[in-house]
Amino acid sequence: MKATAEAFANIALAKYWGKSDVALNLPAVPSLSLTLDPLRTQTRVEFDASLTHDELLLNDTRGAGRTLARVVHLLENVRKEAGFGTFARVESHNHFPTASGLASSASGFAALAIAARAAASLPFDRNKASALARQASASAARSVFGGFVVLAAGQHDEATLCAQPIFERTHWDLRVVVAVTTEGEKETGSTLGMEHSRTTSPYYEAWVANAPLYFERVLEGVRTRDLELAGEAMEESTFAMHACALAASPGILYFTPSTLAAYETVKSLRKNGVCAYATMDAGPHVKVFCDANDVDRVNHALLQTSGVLRTITASPGRGAELIQP
Ligand code: DP6
Repeated sequence: MKATAEAFANIALAKYWGKSDVALNLPAVPSLSLTLDPLRTQTRVEFDASLTHDELLLNDTRGAGRTLARVVHLLENVRKEAGFGTFARVESHNHFPTASGLASSASGFAALAIAARAAASLPFDRNKASALARQASASAARSVFGGFVVLAAGQHDEATLCAQPIFERTHWDLRVVVAVTTEGEKETGSTLGMEHSRTTSPYYEAWVANAPLYFERVLEGVRTRDLELAGEAMEESTFAMHACALAASPGILYFTPSTLAAYETVKSLRKNGVCAYATMDAGPHVKVFCDANDVDRVNHALLQTSGVLRTITASPGRGAELIQP
């Protein structure tokens, strides 16, 4: 009754921000992401009859609060489907900064969904694992798959909504250079940030109305491997999402001076003929999409930017898999 899985984080080119159904955790807008190697989480699940409650160790620290509650909820769903009541011990390791807008919840819950189903002897089924992961964290539904992945907007009571892989990782040999601007945790997690935006931002409706348009342009850019098309639409999706959060009451600002400095670097790279586009999530890091041939120039420029602590270069990654512990 134990299994270990590994999953990679993903970065959205067309952003998910806001829920159409909070209880089922359904996204209000469609999103499109790229799964990224080496932003990796490894998770081991063991159902053990001697336990009196579910236990979570996250990077060797005992998990509590909302993170533990989400893990327990996911395990409850697995126990229901498998038809038993045994509690589980979950151990998870992120090989990159946790909870600072680097999508660790995406890889974490994707790995947990795959490992928990296997530990419960449920058949390997990516769609079911993706729907299970989505209920914990919608972006995690995408990390179950490799390459370019879409998560549609959810209609009411669509409990089985899962992500769909649209292009394999070999479709486009892009690179994402992550400019890490802090090693600390973010102040407002994405779940809270998007709920606060939905309930208080006067720009929320405009965001929900426009997000599918950014999504369509990103999709076309990815389909045709047109970095300018995908990149421009990605930046617009990014800034529209952040504008929605900024206009909330009180406003949520994820950017720091380092974020803006890194974004300026990306703009000046473009002025100098390097095709590079940036995106930011619920944290201050800047993720730069570029051609594999331009990685050195992008890296060099970002590392010279004030406030950029280090960079991580990522490539299109595979979907979540079971591994030998
Ligand atoms: C800004 O998937 O973390 O990264 O479903 O509440 O867990 P919950 O939210 P989460 O939100 C990710 C938001 C984002 C954009 C994206 O990845 O699409």
